[in-house]
Amino acid sequence: MKLVQIACLSVGMIMCTSVRAFSPSLQSRICNKAVELHATSAETEAERLRAKARELMAQVKQQEDDLHNNIMAKKRSRDAHIDQIISELFPTNNEGDTGDLVSRLRNKRLAAEVLVQIVERLHQRTRVADKKEPELASCTDQLIEAAAILDQEFVNQKTRCGDKITHADLVHWGGGNVSGILKDKDKDLAREYDEQFQKRLESFYDAAVKKHTRDEVDSRGWMDGDAWKP
Ligand SMILES: *[C@@H]1O[C@H](CO)[C@@H](O)[C@H](O)[C@H]1NC(C)=O
Repeated sequence: MKLVQIACLSVGMIMCTSVRAFSPSLQSRICNKAVELHATSAETEAERLRAKARELMAQVKQQEDDLHNNIMAKKRSRDAHIDQIISELFPTNNEGDTGDLVSRLRNKRLAAEVLVQIVERLHQRTRVADKKEPELASCTDQLIEAAAILDQEFVNQKTRCGDKITHADLVHWGGGNVSGILKDKDKDLAREYDEQFQKRLESFYDAAVKKHTRDEVDSRGWMDGDAWKP
């Protein structure tokens, strides 16, 4: 039932109840008139509310779009920054050896967090649909290997100087276990990706099964165009 109808009904009932008390015969005539009058103003009010609601929805939508664009712009600029570091660390599409990478890392003194971002970005870039760069996959392994060498240097130096590991050491150098942090990140990302892949596979089957039996889909193959249509 629409808002207007509810409004009319309740206005009608109130009028009818009070009128009935003194003159039952007049009841329907007065009642209809009252319902008509109130219906017009209720409709206007409902229209006004609907317009207001539309306006608010448009505002919310705009804010969401702005926020989304803002987040995307930030991500793009962070990606560009990380891509720049990646191209400096792996200048010849990763043909150099790990020793070279270690020296570059040593010079750059990158924080553990930046290295984690590099691993994330390498994962993304090996997987984006439009421009896959599978050759980058080995960069992650090499980065982990190089980080292990630097971890060892860090621990050796701490031991030699009898220094304690400080909070800053933990944040910046991962407490001498940057390679462990990167390895964990690499594993997490691989697992996430597998799970997402599995989900996509399932939804493909769900969509396909609506059109065909599962066996049919299996035997006719994945790329059966018909199965992709919703
Ligand atoms: C380094 O990190 C890895 C992964 O989190 C962990 O398994 C390993 O025990 C850590 N090694 C040290 C020496 O803390």
